[in-house]
Amino acid sequence: MMTTLLLGQTLSFTGDPFLQPWEECVLHHAHGGVLVEGGHIRAVGDGQALRSAHPQAQVRDYGRDLILPGFVDAHMHYPQTGIIASWGKRLIDWLNTYTFPEEMRFADPAYAREVADRTLDLALAHGTTTLCSYCTIHEGSVDAFFEAAAARGMRVVAGRTCMDRDTAPEGLRDTAQSAHDESARLIARWHGRGRAGYAITPRFSPTSTAEQLEALGALWAANPTCLMQTHLSEQTDEVEWVRGIYPGARDYLDTYEAHGLLGPRGVYGHVIHLEPREVDRLAEVGAAAIHCPTSNTFIGSGLFDLVGLKGRGVVTGLATDTGGGSSFSMLRTMATAYEIAQIRGHAVHPSQLLWLATEGSARALHLDGTVGRLEAGAEADMVVLDLASTPVIAQRAERARDLWELVFPTLMMGDDRAVRATWVGGQPVARPG
Ligand code: GUN
Ligand code: ZN
Repeated sequence: MMTTLLLGQTLSFTGDPFLQPWEECVLHHAHGGVLVEGGHIRAVGDGQALRSAHPQAQVRDYGRDLILPGFVDAHMHYPQTGIIASWGKRLIDWLNTYTFPEEMRFADPAYAREVADRTLDLALAHGTTTLCSYCTIHEGSVDAFFEAAAARGMRVVAGRTCMDRDTAPEGLRDTAQSAHDESARLIARWHGRGRAGYAITPRFSPTSTAEQLEALGALWAANPTCLMQTHLSEQTDEVEWVRGIYPGARDYLDTYEAHGLLGPRGVYGHVIHLEPREVDRLAEVGAAAIHCPTSNTFIGSGLFDLVGLKGRGVVTGLATDTGGGSSFSMLRTMATAYEIAQIRGHAVHPSQLLWLATEGSARALHLDGTVGRLEAGAEADMVVLDLASTPVIAQRAERARDLWELVFPTLMMGDDRAVRATWVGGQPVARPG
């Protein structure tokens, strides 16, 4: 079996820097190494020591570049890649104007595969190695995504987006029964196959009937190792809309809870305009709230309470939400997360941002220990960052007095130009050109 040794600066976490002082959770080697064998990380430590102990290993020396676990994007919509950066609308109009017409095109499996290929190549170019994606209502859109991921050896989570209410347009509507049956077929076909995981995916309460939510709740109960992903309290108009459609519900989360769609493997996107009961229930259950900062500013949704929710014990991940989000880059996403926290009065530390984009998102997807971690036993998905990728970043990094001053300019100003290399399953990804 081939053994590879990556040399560079390494950064890994031994704990959650939101819950402990960050100094106690960070393991940094200025001249580190990551030993890779058979698609897994075998050791992380001092580079020279690993080199001496494993003289047979093929060496890839990244100098002063920073080796991290590959980024984990915990909420995105691959079918929206083609409509990213569409102007001028808030959520409901944005869905009707841009999203739904584009998602109709995924009835064509060839188009679905083309966009899935493009999306995953864009993600890898930005250092993202795991994505949790919505597909469309079309079964073929799910096959296309999982096939494209398998072709690249990527660990992904995805599911068929279900909508049976007349708030969704003709052509993107199913029924409670067909949503259940097609999702069940896809679970049998994909869940646990290679590096694929399935997420049961009701789009959100306003596009599902109570019957459909109930049917998908039953499907989740029958397939408890699946994730369940949906949207929660993204915009105030949406929360009002939900109140009108489900007058008996205690709050937005209750529209899911009442139908078996609240559980520890529940992954809820946006989660901004919450009632106290909703925060309590998410924390009690161990369900995940996914922060989508570039989307929340782009669509004008609001300011996610990162520090507050972490402090209340809510499991939290980080995501681009492309094409609602305005960037594939988890670096841009960390920058916006930082800015939103600043507006809310908190200076989030760079270690906390990096933790969220790797281990935090992996934990939200119940993949912690598997990806998102630079540690022996984890799968060897990595991103290597050039910490001086543009002139402005380079001149700021030059003045750095410590690791965090060196890293922070790249978190704030970096993008795909900072990605020196991406490794998937122990192999470097060939870069275009
Ligand atoms: N809520 C329901 N569907 C969507 C979607 O596709 N994107 C975003 N940002 N919010 C949603
Ligand atoms: Zn979304």
